[in-house]
Amino acid sequence: MKISKIWLVPFSPTGSSRKVITAIAAAMTGIPSEECDLTYAAGVGRRRFGPDELVIIGVPVYAGRVAPLAVERLQTLQGDRTPAVIVATYGNRDFEDALVELRDIARQASFVPLAAGAFIGEHSFSGAETPIAAGRPDGPDLAIAEAFGARIGARLAALETLDAACCPDLPGNVPYREGAPPLPLTPALVEAACTKCGICLTVCPNEAITLQEKIAIDVERCIFCCACIKSCPEEALVIDAAPVRQVRQWLHEHCTARREPQLYL
Ligand SMILES: Cc1cc2nc3c(=O)[nH]c(=O)nc-3n(C[C@H](O)[C@H](O)[C@H](O)COP(=O)(O)O)c2cc1C
Repeated sequence: MKISKIWLVPFSPTGSSRKVITAIAAAMTGIPSEECDLTYAAGVGRRRFGPDELVIIGVPVYAGRVAPLAVERLQTLQGDRTPAVIVATYGNRDFEDALVELRDIARQASFVPLAAGAFIGEHSFSGAETPIAAGRPDGPDLAIAEAFGARIGARLAALETLDAACCPDLPGNVPYREGAPPLPLTPALVEAACTKCGICLTVCPNEAITLQEKIAIDVERCIFCCACIKSCPEEALVIDAAPVRQVRQWLHEHCTARREPQLYL
């Protein structure tokens, strides 16, 4: 079947999911592509996709599930028997029920997931002293993503109609295991280091940060994605909350063995 356009659909506060889906699309040369970025509120709005378009969705895993803000924003999209590739990016611990959940979200909106991947991205909580999957997705990961994109392109080209396509079996539980409740915590500000440049305001996916006298983070809106921490040039935002520091230390000690992307086609 002929694809007239590829839509990249990331929700990617710290950029790993976007890198992976961009690499997948890069292999499908000759087809125009555009991004429908769900990371920031400004990019979210009701969108419809046609049966001759391909949507490549990339989201992070939070507590073994699709990040809740991504779930909310994906619900603004509507397919029309639109083929889809679904990608969950996780921080080298596990992706648990995230791929089956993403498959179900896609199907409910009339997308037809025909390929899925679980890729590894640097863990949001990773830091210089406690690295967790630092630097991933790296060159080998992105080469795997590109080769996967080439296989998906070949599969689509060989399909007469989408009716012949089916979603491969995916690991995960249905019903899904409980995700974690929202943390009543935010990154902490090191006031002496902050230059009030405002970069953190622009990278926050949920408009949780304001700047008046000083940077303030709204605990109700913060999803602890760590985009602000990773983007701050002065290291003025840090993980200070004890529960997150403990999780970070555990991940740093226990999730050291390199996991590899898992592909389903
Ligand atoms: C609140 C929260 C929960 C997370 N839970 C998991 C998890 O259950 N398993 C895992 O391996 N990584 C987990 N991660 C790490 C992210 O999935 C990982 O860093 C991912 O690459 C982020 O994607 P992005 O760069 O596209 O935002 C979590 C990160 C955050 C912020």
